[in-house]
Amino acid sequence: MCGRFAAACGRRAARRRCRIEFRLPAEPCIAEVDKRRVDRILRNLLVNAVEHGEGKDVVVTVTADRDAVAVGVRDHGVGLRPGEEQLVFERFWRADPARARTTGGTGLGLAIALEDARLHGGWLQAWGERGRGSVFRLTLPRSAGHALAGSPLSLGPAETEVAASALEAERQGGAAW
Ligand SMILES: Nc1ncnc2c1ncn2[C@@H]1O[C@H](COP(=O)(O)OP(=O)(O)OP(=O)(O)O)[C@@H](O)[C@H]1O
Ligand SMILES: [Mg+2]
Repeated sequence: MCGRFAAACGRRAARRRCRIEFRLPAEPCIAEVDKRRVDRILRNLLVNAVEHGEGKDVVVTVTADRDAVAVGVRDHGVGLRPGEEQLVFERFWRADPARARTTGGTGLGLAIALEDARLHGGWLQAWGERGRGSVFRLTLPRSAGHALAGSPLSLGPAETEVAASALEAERQGGAAW
């Protein structure tokens, strides 16, 4: 599935000089899904990540546990302002309607993606910080209709990134003394 997305987004990513990295589990993740709808969700998340990623790496992580499968799309671009984690899912909402864009841009993509996720009994959630990029996480139950109790993937920057930025803050704090 990810291969298809890489192909679909490859040209756009190349134009933006953006590398898409896939972190996939060794075993294939099996879940009962409507392939067309899940494809549509992931395509929108990847296009958004490339468009707002400022040419920096986009990382797609797939992970699963016994009950759920999760896909995280991480970019290191403009990120989100406080409150935008919810606003992005509203119909026709766009952070900056005037911003020059090459494609799409109706502001409907994430609203439709959220509906598609909910039709599976799934979750679609966002994390972002201004200047630190964002993460969009899709969590789907492995069996259609089963209620989700949690996600196998944490929402937010990877722990290694958090550790690195804490170290950086400490270093800068140290320099100020
Ligand atoms: N990865 C991201 N980083 C920063 N902002 C984002 C990201 N993804 C979405 N957004 C913001 O959320 C808005 C809504 O996204 P959405 O996918 O719904 O619409 P769109 O991409 O503008 O248009 P469409 O998907 O319909 O072509 C975007 O216009 C952008 O402002
Ligand atoms: Mg979009």
